[in-house]
Amino acid sequence: MQLTFYGHSTLSVTVNGKTVLFDPFFTGNPSAKDIDIEKVKADFIFITHGHGDHTADLVSVAKKTGALCVAAAEVVGWLKKNGVENVHPLNHGGPVDFGFGKARGVNAVHSSSFSDGSYAGNPLGFVFTTPKGNFYMAGDTALTMDMQLIPLWAKLDFAILPIGGNYTMDPADAIHAADFIKCNKIFGIHYNTWPIVQIDTEKAKADFAAAGKQLLLPNPGETIEL
Ligand code: NI
Ligand code: MN
Repeated sequence: MQLTFYGHSTLSVTVNGKTVLFDPFFTGNPSAKDIDIEKVKADFIFITHGHGDHTADLVSVAKKTGALCVAAAEVVGWLKKNGVENVHPLNHGGPVDFGFGKARGVNAVHSSSFSDGSYAGNPLGFVFTTPKGNFYMAGDTALTMDMQLIPLWAKLDFAILPIGGNYTMDPADAIHAADFIKCNKIFGIHYNTWPIVQIDTEKAKADFAAAGKQLLLPNPGETIEL
């Protein structure tokens, strides 16, 4: 599996020959200022919730790539209203077989609305099980006991967790989350985009290492092998 980070919560995972893009936010994303949106590829786009820092470029990227957009039914409804037809509604539950692997919608403790204030359903995380490996994209979430369910469904190779605090988990809670999901390889997102989610990344890495875990924080534009 390969992971390309674009900044904030925008990233793609290439697994089993398909590229899965998450939460496309390029316009107005200070972390993505050097990313060429025209070069962003996607066979699938999974959207965790409706907030602008997860959907700002969703409609344009969906139309440009023709990717299958997978999200809560309310997000799918909004996409259809905006002329995106290649969609699959999901809610807490699953798994659903998407060919490259299966995806399950899981709880995220957060909120979800669009920038215009319209309702976007419940926020979601996603658990993927594929022949090439398993991973969890938490989306925006606080630490929640529900994360303890995830090992029932998947032995994770890595997990993508928010670590910026304020709106989501901070590094200390992400370490607890890593214990809950029984995964020691964590990819951090949703940090250092703005001062309100600023963290000390060296301290975070050291705290993860002291807990016997790895915190991966590549620069926007970097691709890593997982
Ligand atoms: Ni959010
Ligand atoms: Mn967010």
